[in-house]
Amino acid sequence: MEYNSPLGKIKAQYLISKLQLPPSSHVLEVGCGNGKFLHQVLEAYDAHVLGVGIDDVLIEQAQDYAKSHFEPNRFEFISQSINDVELPLNHFDLIICNGATHAYEQGPNALLSTLSETIKLLKPNGKLLLGECYWKQPPKEGYLNVLGVTEDIYHSHHGNIKLARKVGFTALYATTSSDEDWDNFEWGRVMYAHMLLEESPYNDALKSKTQQLDSWMDIYLESGRNTLGYGFYLFKK
Ligand SMILES: C[S@@+](CC[C@H](N)C(=O)[O-])C[C@H]1O[C@@H](n2cnc3c(N)ncnc32)[C@H](O)[C@@H]1O
Repeated sequence: MEYNSPLGKIKAQYLISKLQLPPSSHVLEVGCGNGKFLHQVLEAYDAHVLGVGIDDVLIEQAQDYAKSHFEPNRFEFISQSINDVELPLNHFDLIICNGATHAYEQGPNALLSTLSETIKLLKPNGKLLLGECYWKQPPKEGYLNVLGVTEDIYHSHHGNIKLARKVGFTALYATTSSDEDWDNFEWGRVMYAHMLLEESPYNDALKSKTQQLDSWMDIYLESGRNTLGYGFYLFKK
């Protein structure tokens, strides 16, 4: 699996082409996972990237890949909560936050907090590339119960844009994950778990993981696929 979000390879390339970063750009990714997106930014642009995440293993992977592909002065990956990293104001040309608004705050104000914090860190005309869930239609109560959330956890696709405008951003571009992107993401996890189980057929943790994923896929097919969307938004300060 490339990304821990319903982002396909082609859409990722397209989004990167839309960024049009100036030379010597400073780029921050909040919740950078294995750093895959930042590696592609480094390939496409003359940029310095800073990736922040709280998963030590993924940060190490991000770092190792970067070390073997790019000049050491072009990247930094930090394993720490974004809330504990001191960052300069009005500094970044681009901030990426893909599936990680919960890094700033859990619950219904996650997006608002992310928008409010990142706008301070961006230079004037700097850009925020946001990947965020939205409701395709009002969620059924049963689905909310399974997720353990209330409806106000997400907005609509348009609602995400309206909130960013309210905080002071200009919306430049927005698109959504296709059904195929979602299917590749969700079924990708199933296939990966089964591949691991084939390699270690007596591993009880893997057995129970595949069973959990079966139940999750029932929920996805019953409700999630029609109800939960994922949007990509390019906002300008
Ligand atoms: C759903 S994953 C998305 C990862 C990546 N953006 C991608 O698309 O593959 C969310 C990421 O946010 C990171 N994260 C969660 N809380 C965080 C925090 N307080 N500060 C920084 N990163 C955080 C996790 O470590 C995880 O890598």
